[in-house]
Amino acid sequence: MKAKKNVLLTGGAGYIGSHTFLSLIENGYNPIIIDNFHNSKKEVINRLEHIIKCKINLIEGDICEREIVLKAFEKFDISSVIHFAAFKSVEESVTKASYYLSNNIIGLLNIIEAMRIFKCNKIVFSSSACVYGDKEEMPVSEDTHRKFVNPYGQSKIICEDILETYKNSADLRYLILRYFNPIGCHESAMIGEDPKSELSNLMPNIAQVAIGKKPYLEVFGNDYNTIDGTGVRDYIHIMDLADGHVAALKKIEIEGVNTSINLGTGKGYSVFEIIRAYEKVSGKKIEYKLCPKRSGDVPIIFADIKKAKKVLNWNSKRDIIEMCRSSWQWQLENPDGY
Ligand code: NAD
Ligand code: UD1
Repeated sequence: MKAKKNVLLTGGAGYIGSHTFLSLIENGYNPIIIDNFHNSKKEVINRLEHIIKCKINLIEGDICEREIVLKAFEKFDISSVIHFAAFKSVEESVTKASYYLSNNIIGLLNIIEAMRIFKCNKIVFSSSACVYGDKEEMPVSEDTHRKFVNPYGQSKIICEDILETYKNSADLRYLILRYFNPIGCHESAMIGEDPKSELSNLMPNIAQVAIGKKPYLEVFGNDYNTIDGTGVRDYIHIMDLADGHVAALKKIEIEGVNTSINLGTGKGYSVFEIIRAYEKVSGKKIEYKLCPKRSGDVPIIFADIKKAKKVLNWNSKRDIIEMCRSSWQWQLENPDGY
């Protein structure tokens, strides 16, 4: 029998990493997690072990510490890396710019350096739709000019450029995945979104209102130039996103592609549309209050998904109702999170 390929998941205990872990297992890979639990809880590991019914290879540590990263490569014969580990709050990045830039950039540099030393040259990188900044024309394709509007977005653009730099010097094969708005949970509802940081995204906040933990949802702005005045986003089910990583990994294993790809559904939904969909699946009334716009928010963004289909032969499968149902299932079965 052929040995399973070891894939290093930096930030593998986080929201996207933990779901991708399960997709990799399903596809015959052996994922290894390195995480310092800065924004994730250790219970994630117990839950993953419960689902896969065996122990996980886990390295607890900070990827900004070079020695820790080198030790991970020494211990395991790493075939490829999926690099999730980063700080991701836009708001916090504005007040703690150097903290964000150093964690996100030094982390990547340490990983690439270890990859060079240990002759591992395949990496999938977590980027974000926020590299597109505030664009008027929708949908945004991968060729759209990138522009950062906050230090978090800046860190992603710098990391994308670093990968490009190393393409020649370290013979790196990379795929940059620009995620839109992942929501929902694994079908078991044993893992889901439960960060240590305060919940700021729309879906977890709606879920909290539906379950009665918050009296109402704050709707940030209702006079944008959108279908109903509220912000429009491209929400994607977390398991579709996770499967996109498997497709990306398979692609770089076969071909030396070095490129960026949007992972979204190609459809935009407004805050009011999401509220209505959530009410439908939960049977709960979502109370809300109209509030001022949140600084740094773009009015509308959704992905051009042609490249993902063409290059990865991947597209999302779950619709917005299924996404809301999944989010509600996680909330119902885990009212206090992990
Ligand atoms: P998350 O915070 O849930 O997961 C990130 C994980 O990385 C956490 O477990 C955290 O503890 C770990 N981590 C951070 N810095 C580390 C370090 N220096 N050493 C070791 N571990 C470290 O975030 P997520 O939602 O799973 O996001 C994963 C990646 O996707 C991030 O790079 C994020 O910027 C990007 N992204 C996320 C979204 C989203 O909506 N969730 C959208 C676009 C891009
Ligand atoms: C935010 C980040 C983005 C990050 C993404 C995933 C900002 C400006 N952008 O994106 O960089 O990649 O999260 O972590 O923070 N909304 C409400 N009420 C709420 C929460 C949100 O009305 O309580 C609205 C927002 O104004 C927006 C939409 O819902 O129109 C989606 O918001 P959110 O889930 O935070 O995602 P993004 O703003 O796309």
